Amino acid sequence: MTAIRVENLTKTYRVARPASNSAGWFTRLWKREQTIVRAVRGVSFEIEQGEMVAFLGPNGAGKTTTLKLLSGLIYPTSGTATVLGYIPWQRENAYRRRFSLVMGQKNQLWWDLPARESFQLHREIYRIEPTAFDRRLDELTDLLEVRRLIGQPVRELSLGERMRMELIAALLHSPDVLLLDEPTIGLDVVSQRRVQQFLRHYQQEQRITVLLTSHYMKDVEALCRRAIVINEGEIKHDGPLGEIVERFSRNKLIALQFGGTELPAELAEFGRVIEAAPPRAVLEVPRTEVSATLQRLLARYTLEDVGVQERPLEEVIAELFTSSRPESAAATR
Ligand SMILES: Nc1ncnc2c1ncn2[C@@H]1O[C@H](COP(=O)(O)OP(=O)(O)OP(=O)(O)O)[C@@H](O)[C@H]1O
Ligand SMILES: [Mg+2]
Repeated sequence: MTAIRVENLTKTYRVARPASNSAGWFTRLWKREQTIVRAVRGVSFEIEQGEMVAFLGPNGAGKTTTLKLLSGLIYPTSGTATVLGYIPWQRENAYRRRFSLVMGQKNQLWWDLPARESFQLHREIYRIEPTAFDRRLDELTDLLEVRRLIGQPVRELSLGERMRMELIAALLHSPDVLLLDEPTIGLDVVSQRRVQQFLRHYQQEQRITVLLTSHYMKDVEALCRRAIVINEGEIKHDGPLGEIVERFSRNKLIALQFGGTELPAELAEFGRVIEAAPPRAVLEVPRTEVSATLQRLLARYTLEDVGVQERPLEEVIAELFTSSRPESAAATR
């Protein structure tokens, strides 16, 4: 069964942004009213019940706007969407009890109160039956290992601990659809992994439908099989995550800091030079050649520091829809 159906969804923001200063006052005034941001442009997709789908794209692509539309926080300019049969922006109470939105950048708990009290408030808002509530809270605090922290004011918690509390708050009423907007942003690697593991476990157990935005490949890889890629408000790719993962892991970045102030002239022999800021440089090399390249570099030069990194997810995605889908990339303007 389809859980989320989005058809031709469009959201346009009007922003008061004056035209350039070289324009006359009349033009400036007139333009001011004309400036619009097309955040989401005719987006369509469907998500089946129990699916966990990654929603990827660079900054400003339209991800948060889409999630806000699906949560009924904002109205669309045109197009339709239904989630579990509800039109989100009609804001029916029955719908509110069936979904949750978690925003990594936004705190939804009371800052000065212990999380426990925010949870009690949720119990009342969502009219959760007390014994069911106690059982769920128990389960979730165990799974997320925050039992000893629920009595502490939220402002005293670390970012990772707070994020886990946010997840509990979002799940207490057992939503069928979970919209996650960068749930691991700013978390260290250990906390990120903990959130990933929890989400994977929870989703497998409860079979809820999840739409997840993230800028971290690790999140996406750990959790999703399908990815919808959005850029400049338009869907650019919708399909198995495999293709993106494969491209992502094909090459790696080697960050180098040379002894001295110069970079070797023949650096390009070792890989594609992505960045050259003497005495530092970043090379892109095929994954299978990382260790051989490192050995050659170390044998030949004095290096102060070396690091191997993944390529940024956004870059891989950008490459995906500029190289393999030239027709859609050309059609954006
Ligand atoms: N309330 C608003 N008023 C005006 N413009 C907005 C508003 N909210 C978003 N926008 C614009 O709409 C576009 C899409 O923004 P959105 O927040 O959906 O991007 P995003 O994909 O979530 O990006 P990020 O990865 O940075 O979170 C951007 O150009 C943004 O500036
Ligand atoms: Mg966003």
